Amino acid sequence: MSCPSLGPVRPAPFLDKPWTLTYYPPMAKGPPVVQGSMASLTMEEVWSLYRDDLREIEAQIQQHLDSPIPLINEIATHILTGGGKRIRPLLLILCSRLGGIDPPGAFGLGSLIEFIHTATLLHDDVLDEADLRRGRDTARRIWGNHTSILIGDYLYSRAMQEIVAFQNHDINHVLSVACRKMAEGEILQLCANGKPVQNETDYLQIIEYKTGALVAAACKVGAIIGGATAAQQKALYQFGMCLGIAFQLADDRLDYTANRTRLGKTLGQDFMQGMVTLPLLHLLQFSSYDTRQDLLQKIKGGDLGEGELLDITNRMEHHGSLDYTMARSQEYIDAALLTLDSFEDSTAKKSLAVVADYMVNRDL
Ligand code: IPE
Ligand code: IPE
Ligand code: MG
Ligand code: MG
Repeated sequence: MSCPSLGPVRPAPFLDKPWTLTYYPPMAKGPPVVQGSMASLTMEEVWSLYRDDLREIEAQIQQHLDSPIPLINEIATHILTGGGKRIRPLLLILCSRLGGIDPPGAFGLGSLIEFIHTATLLHDDVLDEADLRRGRDTARRIWGNHTSILIGDYLYSRAMQEIVAFQNHDINHVLSVACRKMAEGEILQLCANGKPVQNETDYLQIIEYKTGALVAAACKVGAIIGGATAAQQKALYQFGMCLGIAFQLADDRLDYTANRTRLGKTLGQDFMQGMVTLPLLHLLQFSSYDTRQDLLQKIKGGDLGEGELLDITNRMEHHGSLDYTMARSQEYIDAALLTLDSFEDSTAKKSLAVVADYMVNRDL
């Protein structure tokens, strides 16, 4: 087995050390954490409740786009103003307010987490050869792969420069670990690319690292600045990790089923790149021998027209692969909600429950 650009690697399992998957399977179910009127908010109401805070995040993002090199600001502005959901900054703000205070620093740190997230998108679009992001041409399509990678590096470094200025060791630690894990997740994914031999555990491993780690870090940073106890910080890290995993599961489902215009990304991108995500893993497992061979051939060839995409999604519907992915995603959300138990009821907690639900039921 060889791994592109990384030289030969050993056969699966492709890790040097035995792996323990921290967040799989999710914890046992319990009673709903948010009950009665606490559960009555909609996501639109949450966006609206925190509109002013999110405006502050935007202002901070603008403030940090201050390179003396105009091309950097031009490209960074293109991606940063392209309509991202700002879900990570929102989670950071909400987690920071669970203790009843409104700590300074939430906007600055939220905007820097969005910088890190945006850097990963610039890199990810190069890896995935993506042409569309947030409904616009990707930076790599307009300015090329090299530029896109370098602007990603710039955004990472700019974020780090500002983060260390907070002089908080715990924040430095949690964010640097998240960056390391994201890179490891992308490399694991690269190694797994085109190899449907991976199982669900390998897949969950990748998404825990590439997506869960930053969402978890956003929640923990909120907890740290909000004065949460060590146990509560740990609980919120776990909350974010489960949310992040659920979010990526939903994203991998949307890659097959979404409304393209609304999603703002190309459908079927994962399949075309030979990426075997959970819906496809499930389908491969439940397909006949002939269909499986046919699908494996297509994954290798990376050729997928609209007709073929429709055929695959029909098969996924038939075998329950999309529902299965959704159910797994919901399990992680249920597990996440249990970790909020130790916090007093508040608008922030109520909103976190709504955001958690949105992570899995979103359509973009
Ligand atoms: C996209 O993240 C990458 C994934 C982890 C699936 P988002 O869906 O949060 O992207 P934006 O910021 O809203 O565009
Ligand atoms: C998310 O995976 C990658 C990152 C965590 C950056 P995807 O490759 O599925 O994300 P999209 O679908 O391109 O947004
Ligand atoms: Mg991608
Ligand atoms: Mg995706």
